Amino acid sequence: MIRAVSAAQRFDSRGNPTVQVELDTELAHRTQSGKFRALVPSGASTGQHEAVELRDHDASRFGGKGVANAVANVRETIGPALVREQFDARMQLRDLDAFMCRLDGTPNKARLGANAILGVSMAFARLAAAASRMWADGDDGQGEPLYEFLRREAGADKGPYIMPVPFFNVLNGGVHSGNTMAFQEIMIAPVGATSFEEAMRMGSEVYQALKKILVEKFGSPATGVGDEGGFAPPITKPEEALDLLTAAVKSSGYTGKIAFAIDPASSEFFRDGVYDLGFKDKTADRRSPQQMQQLYQGLVNGQYPIVLLEDPFAEDDWDSWTEFNKTCGIELVGDDLLVTNVERVRMADERKACNSMLLKVNQIGTVSEAIEAANLAFSLGWGVFVSHRSGETTDDFIADLTVALGTGHLKSGAPCRGERVAKYNRLLDIEAELKALGKPCVYAGESFRFPSKL
Ligand code: PGA
Ligand code: ZN
Repeated sequence: MIRAVSAAQRFDSRGNPTVQVELDTELAHRTQSGKFRALVPSGASTGQHEAVELRDHDASRFGGKGVANAVANVRETIGPALVREQFDARMQLRDLDAFMCRLDGTPNKARLGANAILGVSMAFARLAAAASRMWADGDDGQGEPLYEFLRREAGADKGPYIMPVPFFNVLNGGVHSGNTMAFQEIMIAPVGATSFEEAMRMGSEVYQALKKILVEKFGSPATGVGDEGGFAPPITKPEEALDLLTAAVKSSGYTGKIAFAIDPASSEFFRDGVYDLGFKDKTADRRSPQQMQQLYQGLVNGQYPIVLLEDPFAEDDWDSWTEFNKTCGIELVGDDLLVTNVERVRMADERKACNSMLLKVNQIGTVSEAIEAANLAFSLGWGVFVSHRSGETTDDFIADLTVALGTGHLKSGAPCRGERVAKYNRLLDIEAELKALGKPCVYAGESFRFPSKL
């Protein structure tokens, strides 16, 4: 039984307030405290169609970014309702989530806040995992790992456990850093590793090699990092970024084993029908949607091993998405385009706009709706790419979710900064645990896009 639901204002990796939720239960004999917590992340390049992150907009506190109202909504509205309805761990996560959506009563969680609702949803998943063997024979009092609970919740409990390819965002631009690169994320993906552990070694070594190259080329100030732990050197063009990565991969000895990916996060620089690549330093570099398509096609067909493009076009520039999807030949991921929302996924399917969905739990605001969106994407034959947010916390929930869904890939920033490596470290723990238990466990590797074939 949930005895009490509390919430508090805590901080994210950008130093902004965020919501922490704690469920107080009678499971104290099973876990150390019987308390289950979750911390909610927050984006910077936020899609217009995302569920509403409730901020106080009181300019005298935290520049308007306080979350006192969202915290109060957990304490005063959601919490008492869950206690009143006697929600306990035997309830389905999806029933709890549907209940909170009804309590909110808006289509986009604008009343209670997706940040308030998501915190409760995540904490409840942890509670349900801890309690899940309560009624089973041989209960050891530990419950089950979160990934195991979520795997059943997603109906994905057949076949081997799939460890994801980590896509490390090692060069930061866009609204995530102070340099002049318009594109937000340039990522490396160790597709040629044979385990998650080896992929982490490759990512870490390339990251350190890249740091050395940046010092030689630009001097030590170029090694400052952006919001997601990647470096933010004084570069502007994507080719400069990709050349730096090529050199770092080569000097680490991993040529042929590491692929590249780009998230331009182009909704951030789409203005009046054109893409303003000079938006950061106010230089004149405005491109039409057709010119952007040519730029991307040139990069994809060129010398770089690019396997994935995310949000190359703005969230409502549907025609460009559809046109490009006909020929691009690689994984084309919708982030702001889809906002982890089944309605947007269906729209994109009708228009044949992309072939993969980015999954961010706080874009939709409950764990079960995010799982539903992932299952819809899988059923369309799409890829699913799990993602952190640029404003993160040390909460590692998405690591378990990635293994549970078997998505084959995730992005959690560079292998640097505590809130980024929290997820990677959790995945290392999961891989070690699965191996120790003798469970079938495969690293997605080159099959990251269609892991169900493994
Ligand atoms: P955000 O960036 O968390 O700032 O939205 C991540 C992304 O665009 O993928
Ligand atoms: Zn994105």
